[in-house]
Amino acid sequence: MEQPRIAYQSERCTLYAGDCASLIGQLPTVDLLCTDPPYGIRWNSGNNGGRFGPLLGDDGSLDVPGMLGALVRSHLRPKRHVYVFGFQPSQLAESLQLGGTSELIWDKVNIGMGDLSKPWAPQHEPITFGSHHPSKSSRASGGGNLAARLRAGTIIRVPRKNGTQVNRHPTEKPVRLMAELIESSSRRGELILDPFAGSGSTLVAALLAGRHAIGCELDERYVEVAVQRIREAERIADRIEAA
Ligand SMILES: C[S@@+](CC[C@H](N)C(=O)[O-])C[C@H]1O[C@@H](n2cnc3c(N)ncnc32)[C@H](O)[C@@H]1O
Repeated sequence: MEQPRIAYQSERCTLYAGDCASLIGQLPTVDLLCTDPPYGIRWNSGNNGGRFGPLLGDDGSLDVPGMLGALVRSHLRPKRHVYVFGFQPSQLAESLQLGGTSELIWDKVNIGMGDLSKPWAPQHEPITFGSHHPSKSSRASGGGNLAARLRAGTIIRVPRKNGTQVNRHPTEKPVRLMAELIESSSRRGELILDPFAGSGSTLVAALLAGRHAIGCELDERYVEVAVQRIREAERIADRIEAA
């Protein structure tokens, strides 16, 4: 298998261009796995699908649960958290082999196009949250609690981008949404992994929140977009640190 090339590298962030399967066993230990993989549904709807063309790896041939399971076992620090967009806990529980998985919902606030023959328009997306089960004594001493903010409900309301705002990637996630997950499950200076980085939203959110990040993206068009966004996020992070 061809090794991914390094498309961007700094003290805080590395972005690989290539197939993330080739990185299994080659990465450092990370503190959080937070990713939005191809959903395997041949995503291609409305204006965006037409404009961007099909997503790589979205034809169902990619074993996303198997690949994420291998990344967790090889690279995730024990007792840390996992977030996976677009998959139900039942699809991932067996392969992730964590203590438990549960469902979060991203409430996109604004409805999408979806199937126009149905009376319901899509407004949400599942996110599988994977974590270990801390023991009673560990819970009592604050073990397993990584949150940088107060506990919140399992429905996360962050407006989706509308058709005119989505201009970098067809399934681009809002940075504010990614920041909610990252700040709930990691501390400043820790390392966040997104093996299906797309336009780099997870990496940007991680850098702006004072974390370090590793990403990988197969489609060169989005590698280029992600590099530009990461550079800008690093400039902002530098200014925040210097203030
Ligand atoms: C759902 S999108 C991620 C979008 C991202 N969250 C964003 O905000 O831009 C999934 C991405 O995974 C990429 N991909 C597909 N197969 C891959 C592989 N084997 N290794 C790395 N990236 C892959 C696709 O090109 C696509 O950009």
